[in-house]
Amino acid sequence: MPASPPPPPPARVLSGVQPSGASGSQHLGNYFGAIQQQIALQDELPGEVYYFIADYHALTTVHDGEALRANCHELAITYLALGLDPAKAALFRQSDVPEVAELAWLLASVTGMGLLERAHAYKDKVANGLKPSAGLFFYPVLMAADILLYDATLVPVGKDQLQHVEFAQDMATYFNQAFAGGADVLRRPEPRLSRTPLVPGLDGRKMSKSYGNSIPIFESGKRLRKLVGQIVTDSTELGQPLPFESCNVFALLRLVCAEDELAEIAGWYQAGAREGKPFGYGHAKQHLAAKLDALFAPARARREHLLAHPEEVDAALAAGAARARPVARATLERCRRACGLG
Ligand code: ADP
Ligand code: TRP
Repeated sequence: MPASPPPPPPARVLSGVQPSGASGSQHLGNYFGAIQQQIALQDELPGEVYYFIADYHALTTVHDGEALRANCHELAITYLALGLDPAKAALFRQSDVPEVAELAWLLASVTGMGLLERAHAYKDKVANGLKPSAGLFFYPVLMAADILLYDATLVPVGKDQLQHVEFAQDMATYFNQAFAGGADVLRRPEPRLSRTPLVPGLDGRKMSKSYGNSIPIFESGKRLRKLVGQIVTDSTELGQPLPFESCNVFALLRLVCAEDELAEIAGWYQAGAREGKPFGYGHAKQHLAAKLDALFAPARARREHLLAHPEEVDAALAAGAARARPVARATLERCRRACGLG
């Protein structure tokens, strides 16, 4: 009987998030555009999900050790509070697995300057005034090492990171061809783009920490109502039909309401009335603020708990690193052998 081919290795998810913003700066765009779907994957592929806090990458912009440490801690709390389960998904600090820096060097040795010179993110950052350090230029190589080190097959990212994942595909091919006669020493990753359309900010542009138009995930009560009150709407008068398709408030309601509830709200917009009383943007905003406040209440409570128990956060990160490191070592060992090192 012919031998059956070996089963394909399991799918594995990996993504990184930069701790470069101020503490607590994660906003609704980050949640609905990235974090929510990242966390959901832990139930699709339990045990095969790896998320790390990209502190080596952050060194290209953050040069304050205390701030970096605080941002990493805050980001870990954010993921844990929002439902990341360390039993299903490994959450760790990038720098707790320093093997990634060695793989980055091996990849750099087979990567042409021309490839890196094409990087949009590098060009954008320099155009925006960031000093073009060698680290900033090398950023995509380190990112490719992140992905390839863990044999990732699926890399959930935003559109802005797509090119970097394609570079990782290219670097895996260069490495395999240069050192292994084309054998799959490094596995080819595929990007997975978020399904959420762009989340608008207070001013209607993409919500982003760099535009100052964000609603933080953990904002609540009066401050949340005040922020939601600032969302830009048109000047339709109270009692007149409101255009819901183009409304920034409605775009956010779409993210937090079930379909039947959303249809009901669309009805209020179209009538300019709710239960016989005039309905305007102010009412829509009150509704949105109340929904957001309730939706994130359990996560806020978990966050408060974790803020008071930093040892639980440290334990989760240590457990994540302990899961990630043997995987990293095994890949690096394969690569070293292929290159003739050691
Ligand atoms: P920021 O623009 O605030 O700096 P990042 O670039 O750090 O946000 O984004 C981190 C992740 O969140 C990426 O996957 C990105 O695609 C997603 N994201 C950020 N803002 C939005 C948004 N307004 N709508 C949808 N996704 C977003
Ligand atoms: N460059 C990514 C960002 O700015 C963060 C990141 C670093 C990453 N390494 C990664 C994302 C590996 C996915 C896979 O958002």
